[in-house]
Amino acid sequence: MTRDETPEATLRRARERLTEAGVWDVEGDLSALVDRFLHRAEPVGAHAEFEAAVAERCARIPLGHITGSVVFDGLGFVVGSGVFVPRSQSTALVEWAAGDEVLPPGGRVLDLCSGVGALGIALARRRPDATVTCVERDETAVQYLRRNVARHAEATRKVTVEVRDLLVPDCLADEAARVDLVIANPPYVPPDVGLLPEWSVHHPRAAVYSGLDGLDLIRAILRHATTVLRPEGRLALEHDEEQPVAVQKLLAAEGFSEVTTLPDSDGDPRITVARITPQENP
Ligand SMILES: C[S@@+](CC[C@H](N)C(=O)[O-])C[C@H]1O[C@@H](n2cnc3c(N)ncnc32)[C@H](O)[C@@H]1O
Repeated sequence: MTRDETPEATLRRARERLTEAGVWDVEGDLSALVDRFLHRAEPVGAHAEFEAAVAERCARIPLGHITGSVVFDGLGFVVGSGVFVPRSQSTALVEWAAGDEVLPPGGRVLDLCSGVGALGIALARRRPDATVTCVERDETAVQYLRRNVARHAEATRKVTVEVRDLLVPDCLADEAARVDLVIANPPYVPPDVGLLPEWSVHHPRAAVYSGLDGLDLIRAILRHATTVLRPEGRLALEHDEEQPVAVQKLLAAEGFSEVTTLPDSDGDPRITVARITPQENP
């Protein structure tokens, strides 16, 4: 920007740059960048920061990594470089999980691969009677997770954080048969799937990809779920829209019933839910 440029010209130029860079929601991103960097009480340096932020977004750095926050299910979450930015499409999973017919009163929930905690914390706000444990391996994600738990202290009085690697087979052994509901939005993308740079370049690989078919973490989560769930306990998993059949087969093979794939908040078939079938007495 030049000193003489009008605010209108600054916005027009930013809009053109974002459009040229292929950003898909130019008006939404522009409005978020204006709110974050231009509309502030201390104007010194604001325009330079705004220009730098637009340049970052044109380099396809995720909006949340630039603004430092994202709204999920009506709650603000702190995010930043090195962590997965929660997607509003996952809200449908939280809505399903919060239903009385899914989660019994005072129920116990595990949010596996919890990242910055969006699903677990949003569920805790919707169901203050529930106890929620967020499980995450990555140290950076855990730092953001703890900050988000602290920021939403009123909703998260019964939310705890556990640092565990879910690829370790017995890492949830202490939860055996204690859990009413497992929720997870794990990494699930196969390595040969082309993603936008926001995800392929600027998100941590371990938050996006998971083995040759993308299903390594999902397999591990299903095995954990068979151990931790009480009889009749439920599970809800987010996955790719190409994966419903594969995920349904894995669930059936692990002894789950009532396997159903539901639409996410954009209407895509990306959430599969199931109930653990109680073991028959020998
Ligand atoms: C797709 S991100 C989703 C985060 C969060 N559930 C959400 O929806 O915003 C997947 C998360 O799984 C975590 N993760 C990957 N491998 C893991 C493992 N072996 N054990 C525990 N967490 C893992 C990543 O660090 C990342 O935070």
